Amino acid sequence: MLQDKDRIFTNLYGFKSPGLRGAKMRGAWDGTKQMLELGRDGIIDQVKASGLRGRGGAGFPTGLKWSFMPKVSDGRPHYLIVNADESEPGTCKDREIMRHDPHLLVEGCLIAGFAMGANAGYIYIRGEFIREREALQAAVDEAYDAKLIGKNNKNGWDFDLYVHHGAGAYICGEETALLESLEGKKGQPRLKPPFPANVGLYGAPSTVNNVESIAVVPTILRRGADWFAGLGRPNNVGTKLFCISGHVETPCNVEEEMGITFRELIEKHAGGVRGGWDNLKAVIPGGSSVPCLPATTCKDMHMDFDTLRDLKSGLGTAAVIVMDQSTDMIRAIARLAYFYKHESCGQCTPCREGTGWMWRVLERMAIGQAEKREIDMLLDVSHQIEGHTICALGDAAAWPVQGLIRHFRHEIEERIDQYSANPNPDGAVSLQAAE
Ligand SMILES: Cc1cc2nc3c(=O)[nH]c(=O)nc-3n(C[C@H](O)[C@H](O)[C@H](O)COP(=O)(O)O)c2cc1C
Ligand code: SF4
Repeated sequence: MLQDKDRIFTNLYGFKSPGLRGAKMRGAWDGTKQMLELGRDGIIDQVKASGLRGRGGAGFPTGLKWSFMPKVSDGRPHYLIVNADESEPGTCKDREIMRHDPHLLVEGCLIAGFAMGANAGYIYIRGEFIREREALQAAVDEAYDAKLIGKNNKNGWDFDLYVHHGAGAYICGEETALLESLEGKKGQPRLKPPFPANVGLYGAPSTVNNVESIAVVPTILRRGADWFAGLGRPNNVGTKLFCISGHVETPCNVEEEMGITFRELIEKHAGGVRGGWDNLKAVIPGGSSVPCLPATTCKDMHMDFDTLRDLKSGLGTAAVIVMDQSTDMIRAIARLAYFYKHESCGQCTPCREGTGWMWRVLERMAIGQAEKREIDMLLDVSHQIEGHTICALGDAAAWPVQGLIRHFRHEIEERIDQYSANPNPDGAVSLQAAE
């Protein structure tokens, strides 16, 4: 269990002031100038050595990503972009950073901006986050007033920071859709390559990072890469914010050591599974995009990138959705399928057509109004979507369906048997209502 002395987000619950004075008392903005004196490469080396992996979902090494930015400008500006879109169902960690500890993010932006040669940064914040935007803007304004950022600031690197709010589209969290939206266009993902480090915002070299990825950097540099690398398990290090929701006694956000077991996480912080451990049915361990895992697999698993990948799921955003025996798994995944159908931007045929097709089939399966051969057909369609689209929303839509079939095929079959034995005349009606 993470000790209090190793917590980065010491105001996660907002018990203290989010303002500059309070943030400084908690250690923010301490020695920032000295950190910049490490130089661009020095900072990137430290972030690499810390083993930090991106907290936005994919777990890509942060220092390595920064090193892709050109070392010397060819005349184009460089940009840092912070992804504060946080729309993955189940995920609610970045909002707490922005509400309660925004100075860690602002300080992180200055350091990251310097490390990638950027004199400007944009924080793209989810449209629905009104109070978070206000708190964040207040922190940015305070940092300007105290000459911590801006032109000729005390830290010695000119850096302007802009807070830009979206209009509430999940797809704008995908990094290239975010860039399009930031440019004032429709938020539709770009084909890659070119990658943002070469051609990003306004055609200039850019790097997009998650809020948590950037907000942990100042503390990593203050306490040393070894400290961060010493927490967790090999290749899966540091502290991590977990968002625990669903059928637990006390849903919460908590900062813990990467690699904590699922059982310890839920017992220590969420009051245990509702009705006890025998009542656990399944877990979605990393936000709605990752495949669910059945109770038999997940009780003692380590909550980190590599363990969950090996279990054919993922740590994703570390949004842990716990489901007890009362959960109708088919209906739950059908609901997620509806979300992805709704959020598809429509550019790619497999995603545009496939997400709606999967949702409609799942709606029928949820009432048993299907044939068993359709289960394999559904699986096949999910594989035709996965890996065949411009962005990862296609994968994100396919994986929950694959998880359902991998672990709960028997439930779908039983539902079909029940329906065949006693066809429900209301079934067709409820399907129409859903549409
Ligand atoms: C459909 C979709 C939605 C996404 N939404 C978010 C989001 O809300 N926040 C986020 O940080 N990353 C999101 N991502 C991941 C980003 O594309 C990108 O990988 C991430 O911001 C990189 O940050 P990191 O390297 O710090 O993890 C999303 C990806 C996809 C495909
Ligand atoms: S995968 Fe879906 S969301 Fe992504 S670009 Fe294609 S249609 Fe749009």
